[in-house]
Amino acid sequence: MVEVTSIFSGNAAIPYAAFNLRDDYYRESARFVINAAKARLGKKNLGAVVEIGAGIGISTMEILQHAERVIAVEPDEGMRYFLGLNTMGDPLVTIVGGRGETLLRSLHQVADLWTGVPGLQDEPFHESFNGVDTILCCQAFHLFNPPGKESLVPKVLEQVSCVLKKCGVFAFDLGPSNFKFLTRISDHRTFTNSGEILTELSHPLYQRTHQILYGVVKREYPDFTRENLWPLGSAKMTYDFLVQASLKAGLSSLLFTENFIPLNGLRVIEFIRNGWTVFFRWPPLSELSSEKKLALMNEAMTQLFREPDFEQMQNMMSYHPTAVFTAVKV
Ligand SMILES: C[S@@+](CC[C@H](N)C(=O)[O-])C[C@H]1O[C@@H](n2cnc3c(N)ncnc32)[C@H](O)[C@@H]1O
Repeated sequence: MVEVTSIFSGNAAIPYAAFNLRDDYYRESARFVINAAKARLGKKNLGAVVEIGAGIGISTMEILQHAERVIAVEPDEGMRYFLGLNTMGDPLVTIVGGRGETLLRSLHQVADLWTGVPGLQDEPFHESFNGVDTILCCQAFHLFNPPGKESLVPKVLEQVSCVLKKCGVFAFDLGPSNFKFLTRISDHRTFTNSGEILTELSHPLYQRTHQILYGVVKREYPDFTRENLWPLGSAKMTYDFLVQASLKAGLSSLLFTENFIPLNGLRVIEFIRNGWTVFFRWPPLSELSSEKKLALMNEAMTQLFREPDFEQMQNMMSYHPTAVFTAVKV
């Protein structure tokens, strides 16, 4: 039986699907990971790709344009439902219920990755596994490092290493809440409003929409106290931590680049809508029906559109920091 992840459980998948598909930021972000893998492999086409944490398929559909096939691994049933709808039975996509930390076992379900299979092996590191050249993880790696819990990162990298062919590439991305960036712009809480560079979280539109939604929610739940959308996502990782875990797993020369995806006003709004899907995963809001969640989001959006300086706020440009990593199987 496939386990359901707690924060992305079925009910959360609905607003996630409703808003994230609209947002080309996620596609752009996936392209960074895809391009990094292509550059590292020195190939135009990625061949067979295993994708970890495929979600509703935004990244999967992007990867498909650069690969021969995608084996999309996703633990949550709700997410897999939308993943199936979005990839519409494409024969080049194989959807697998499974997790990064038990990747090899999850891939048992994909019989043609194995030679001489009968009765698929229980032994996790069975030698009849053929391996793939590329494994990608878009916007999901931070979930392997939950705050206050044992990190799954070493386990995931070990599994990735077992699944990759020699010289194969693993690529993933991390945001500033999850990775210690070197550049100051990555500090979301650095508010700059006089011509300096803005990140999306310090953008006035972001601040204002957050305040408005917070007000709407507080009206019904006066005890609700969560001030910031993001801090519970993951414990921050350092480059050293990731290097050590990669080396131990048999993945060499971990490289990373810090990138900044430009977001104009409208894209900030889409980004905020996505942010709210996180907001609604927290108790007591997590208990609300999808209809209620969407109604609260709509009410807040309507208020935002009536803000007197809405147009001016929209015209400001901001940047989303993202760090993209690649490692090679030794
Ligand atoms: C933010 S979504 C990203 C989805 C997609 N890759 C994209 O770029 O749109 C993170 C996904 O990781 C999945 N996930 C959570 N824990 C996981 C685990 N242990 N192994 C694999 N995937 C996991 C979640 O269910 C969710 O669908």
